[in-house]
Formats: sequence, C-alpha cells, structure tokens
Amino acid sequence: MSDTEKTPPQKGFLAKHAMIERSATLLMVLSLVVVSIGGIVEIAPLFYLENTIEDVDGMRPYTPLELTGREIYVREGCYVCHSQMIRPMRDEVDRYGHYSLAAESMYDHPHQWGSKRTGPDVARVGGRYSNTWHVDHLSDPQSVVPESIMPKYAFLARTRIEDAHIEDLVKTHRAVGVPYTDEMVENARADFKAQADPDSDYDGLIERYGETANVSNFDGQPELTEMDAMIAYLQMLGTLVDFSTFTPDASR
Ligand code: HEC
Repeated sequence: MSDTEKTPPQKGFLAKHAMIERSATLLMVLSLVVVSIGGIVEIAPLFYLENTIEDVDGMRPYTPLELTGREIYVREGCYVCHSQMIRPMRDEVDRYGHYSLAAESMYDHPHQWGSKRTGPDVARVGGRYSNTWHVDHLSDPQSVVPESIMPKYAFLARTRIEDAHIEDLVKTHRAVGVPYTDEMVENARADFKAQADPDSDYDGLIERYGETANVSNFDGQPELTEMDAMIAYLQMLGTLVDFSTFTPDASR
C-alpha cells in the first residue's frame, strides 16, 4: 500500500488549501493579505478617534531645567536600564503606583518608555527620595544600595551647565509640537537658572509652569551643574498628573 492511499482524498475547500500549502509564493502572498487585514482593523480606527490621548489635569511642558535633565538622561542612556512605563497589571501598580497614561508622555520627544528593566521603572520616582539621596545615589549608587549594579555618575556634579542653548532647546521641542508659549521661550534662560536657586525671584517660573515646578538647589552646590538638571528632571517624573481628578474611561 503506498502513502497516498492511506490519506483519504480531500475534496472541496480542503483540497484548495493543500494547493496553497504546496506553493511557497502563494502561501506568502496570502499570508500577507491576511496580516494586512488584521493590521488595518487595528490601526484604521485610531485615525478616526477624535483623541487617542486621555484628558488629564496637570500635564505641562517640562521646565527648561527639567528639559535639560531629560537631555542628559537620554545622552547617558539611562533608558537602557530604566523604563518609564508602568503597565496596567496588578504587580506593577502595587509596586510603582497608577499605571502610566498616554498623556504622561505626550511632551516626550522621543518617549522614554524603554523596553528593558535592569533597574526599576522610574516613571513615578519623583518625590520618592530626597535630593540628597539622589546626589548620593547618582554619585555612587553602591553607597546607598550596596547590591546595586548601577554605574557611578559622579561627574554630573562636576560638570557645569550653561544657558547658551536653552532657548534653542525649548524652541526645538516647540517645533515638534510641545506647546511652549512665546513667553516661555523668552524667559527660558531666566527660568533655567531660577529653578535651581531658591533665593532667586522664581515667581515667573511658577506662573508659567505651575506649582509642580520644583524650586531647589538640587545638588547643594552654588554652581549650576548637570546634577541639578538631572535631579530636577527625576523629581518631576510622575508628579504632574493629578490622579484625584482622573477617572479612567472604559469605553476607550
Ligand atoms: C546598568 C544599568 C543602569 C544604568 C545605565 C542606570 N541605572 Fe539607575 N538603577 C539601576 C539599578 C540596578 C537600580 C536599582 C538599585 C539602585 O537603587 O541602585 C537603579 C536605581 C535607580 C534609581 C532609584 C529607583 C528607585 O525607584 O529606587 C534611580 C532614580 C536611577 N536608577 C536613576 C538612573 C539614572 C538617572 C541613570 C542615568 C544617568 C541610571 N539610573 C542609569 C541600573 C542602572
């Protein structure tokens, strides 16, 4: 008895499917068609929704100093070990707080969601530790967390920052869609310095960015350093959205 005689001859639809399975080209073309339909079904509705980002209170553009800290965060590749996206799962929410909303990264160009966690998620690290803790931790992580494998960034406290490019930086972010006002651009230099100096006149900064603009001598040194900018950025993370006013909309 030969092999072909063992399998009953297939009729109708199944016989046609056997044809597809025997032709690599046909199989590939038809797979592509099926995957495209799936893709269109998922993507097309997004173009017709009025808003794919939820409405929240509190999101504001980053202050010039926070924005500078963010640039350093990107430059140093902190995102390689840290994510900034808390997933809507119980263990995540228990550990880090409310899951991340799309609105929370709407002024991030590019976003810092990350795809790898060697260290913990930092989306809500703002306010969790003191500024001095951050100075100690960034300078020498093992001095506060002995088992840490995070590299040392002590040079941040030794690297001064100037305001020469701050206006351009703010303008660049405005060009890609962050709603910085003309007033914010004009005062970028002043706001940049005022945020790290509690003795300065920082009323303008608060007026433009609101009470969530944290004014402090972040690194404890008189000079304005990369450490100041980095800590200003970290202390802001996750503190902007007022979750007491946010009700998730299940229909989304
Ligand atoms: C090689 C991976 C690695 C890199 C790169 C890295 N970190 Fe970390 N980070 C860790 C690990 C691991 C921990 C947890 C142990 C600890 O607290 O030091 C951590 C902890 C932290 C924490 C405390 C978070 C918490 O909730 O306790 C902060 C803040 C932080 N890192 C900021 C940064 C910043 C800013 C940079 C970039 C300048 C950076 N890290 C780069 C691995 C890394």
